[in-house]
Amino acid sequence: MSPFLMTRTLPEHATEADLRADVLHGLTRTPKALPPKWFYDARGSELFEEITRLPEYYPTRAEREILLARAPEIADATGARTLVELGSGSSEKTRHLIEALPGLHSYVPVDVSESALTRAAEALLADHPGLSVHALIADFTRGLALPGTPGPRLAAFLGGTIGNLLPAERTAFLKSVRSLLSPGDALLLGTDLVKDEATLVAAYDDARGVTAAFNKNVLAVMNRELDADFEPDDFDHVARWDREQEWIEMRLRARTALTVKIRELDLVVHFEAGEEMRTEVSAKFRQEGVRAELAGAGLALTQWWTDEAGRFALSLATAV
Ligand code: SAH
Ligand code: AVI
Repeated sequence: MSPFLMTRTLPEHATEADLRADVLHGLTRTPKALPPKWFYDARGSELFEEITRLPEYYPTRAEREILLARAPEIADATGARTLVELGSGSSEKTRHLIEALPGLHSYVPVDVSESALTRAAEALLADHPGLSVHALIADFTRGLALPGTPGPRLAAFLGGTIGNLLPAERTAFLKSVRSLLSPGDALLLGTDLVKDEATLVAAYDDARGVTAAFNKNVLAVMNRELDADFEPDDFDHVARWDREQEWIEMRLRARTALTVKIRELDLVVHFEAGEEMRTEVSAKFRQEGVRAELAGAGLALTQWWTDEAGRFALSLATAV
């Protein structure tokens, strides 16, 4: 197996400083809220992989169905020599794309989870020893510096992770993705679609409680990294469909009035009984909205594919 390169694009203590800033800001505001990127330590990445195999969590299966059906068309349309994947996680579905791209030279997975990147790169290289893999430990919402690999470039943002960004963050994010591309390069974007509430809520509140454990993992991250004393059993997992915003909101609801110490921040945080802290939004999309958001960033939608059941979409857009 050939070795892979791994680059940390953030300064050594940037992650720690970001977490401190996000927790300080998020737990002293009303209502309390944290950005979802803090779910993904090694345990959180494992829990997410378990979620993708749950009967209720359809997005991964639906997106894989589309990728399997459309990978040859994506290869023809893009002729990509470099595939950059943002929030790549296990890179499991990406394999179908990699296998369909005949001229692919480099794969550049980008993720905040070093453990997910290492496992994914090792597994990929075992099957594709000739592929050049350059993993980046980076926050995709910050300006990315990509390695100088050959074009054309295809950027992929799969899984519906774009829905975990708030609308203003999405606008900034799509513009930054566009700035990584040259005219004629492409973006492959996975978006979960608006559908009936029961299906959506079940996908985020599964019977086995794996999503609840994933949600509560952010408490374990704060306990470990910031010497906090959250008790996961003091909180309930909440998944709610917001009809107006068209997003699922995950929250943690305090079972009783309680106080938490976050020693690294010298902070004491009070929760009222029943108080909810938002931990994630997962926006669901419609074709016209996706087209407009892409166009606003200088990306022209050229293909819109859904799975047979119409639950999830993959869009191909060209940088103009
Ligand atoms: N693309 C994969 C994984 C989706 S899970 C799939 O479709 O199954 C979301 C991934 O994005 C996780 O691996 C998480 O670590 C990563 N992630 C979340 N926020 C991030 C950020 N701001 N910057 C970089 N990676 C991020
Ligand atoms: C990564 N992201 C697209 C997932 C989602 O569906 O919003 C994260 C997740 N949250 C709960 N379950 C899965």
